[in-house]
Amino acid sequence: MNDSLEALRGEVLEHIQKSDSEKELEELRVGVLGRSGKVTLLLRGLKDLPAEERPRAGEQLNQLRRLVEERIDTRLVAIKEQSRERALKEEQIDITLPGTRWERGRTHPLTLVIDEIVDVFLAMGFEIARGPDIEDDYYNFEALNIPKDHPARDMQDTFFVSNGRLLRTHTSPVQIRTMERRKPPLQVIVPGAVYRHDDDATHSPMFHQVEGFMVDDRIALSDLKGVLSHFLRQIFSQETGVRFRPSFFPFTEPSAEIDIQCLICGGESSAARQTCRVCKGSGWLEIMGAGMIDPHVFKFVRYDPEKVSGFAFGMGVERIAMLKYGIDDIRLFFQNDLRFLRQFG
Ligand code: FA5
Repeated sequence: MNDSLEALRGEVLEHIQKSDSEKELEELRVGVLGRSGKVTLLLRGLKDLPAEERPRAGEQLNQLRRLVEERIDTRLVAIKEQSRERALKEEQIDITLPGTRWERGRTHPLTLVIDEIVDVFLAMGFEIARGPDIEDDYYNFEALNIPKDHPARDMQDTFFVSNGRLLRTHTSPVQIRTMERRKPPLQVIVPGAVYRHDDDATHSPMFHQVEGFMVDDRIALSDLKGVLSHFLRQIFSQETGVRFRPSFFPFTEPSAEIDIQCLICGGESSAARQTCRVCKGSGWLEIMGAGMIDPHVFKFVRYDPEKVSGFAFGMGVERIAMLKYGIDDIRLFFQNDLRFLRQFG
């Protein structure tokens, strides 16, 4: 009994020492101290020993059992400590590593151009007004001298919403809203989104206009020409060709449209103009409408056309941005392609 106990003791203690997982130790505990474990079986076999050997053998077996329990517990604590240290090492954060850089957003090219346009007019003493995108027929058409069934309504394909309301087709309704509320002198610009059933390389269903108007007691066509010429010189280079062309708007009389030399193909004298999809071969791109405010419009806002006069204009922001940046398709502004947007701002 003594020798075999010694051998078992050596074998078990060595196994405990070599174990390196909780699972392995648990299996060992069952194999030695469990119901059919080696020590348990020996304890059961005590009854077969001669009576005088039983107390000593029992004592030795119990000692072994306590020792095994003690060593297993000690080893278990060591294993847990080791695995905690390993985890800490693996999860260690290297605070010297460089951080992840957030990409900074940029200003959209249309916002850049709107800001630039607005700045030129603020410097000339204009103030900013705004109006709703969803308009009434009255403000978008009627009060601008475009009665129902007037053919000029076809000039702007309108998106109608419910209850006779519509998405404003231009920023001109804000002329009426502002004049209704205030008395001259007025010197106002209105940047904002407008909507039309239009879609090609130079027409977008949603685009932006900057409206402008000046009303006082002696405003003349020469004031309009002076303000717009100064504006165009600030936005485009001195060499860029500009032309004022007679036109028609129901809310201005006389009316003009302003064209800028097509900077995509190089304009009238360039051979590339024949195939240019922006100016469609004309060498010019229309950027705004303008004129002297029609006396009928003043009557709608209860101004006396005998006493006041004024001019108004409305320009297309996308068209100006296309010319400034050499962009040959208006749809690029709205596709949110980062490769395009990253080039600005
Ligand atoms: C008007 O909208 C008038 N309200 C402008 C005006 C204001 C005239 C005050 C007189 C007095 P028009 O429909 O021409 O006019 O549009 C003005 C400008 O908007 C055009 O010259 C063009 O540059 C731009 N534009 C028109 N339709 C589109 C479109 N679908 N997409 C992009 N730009 C457009």
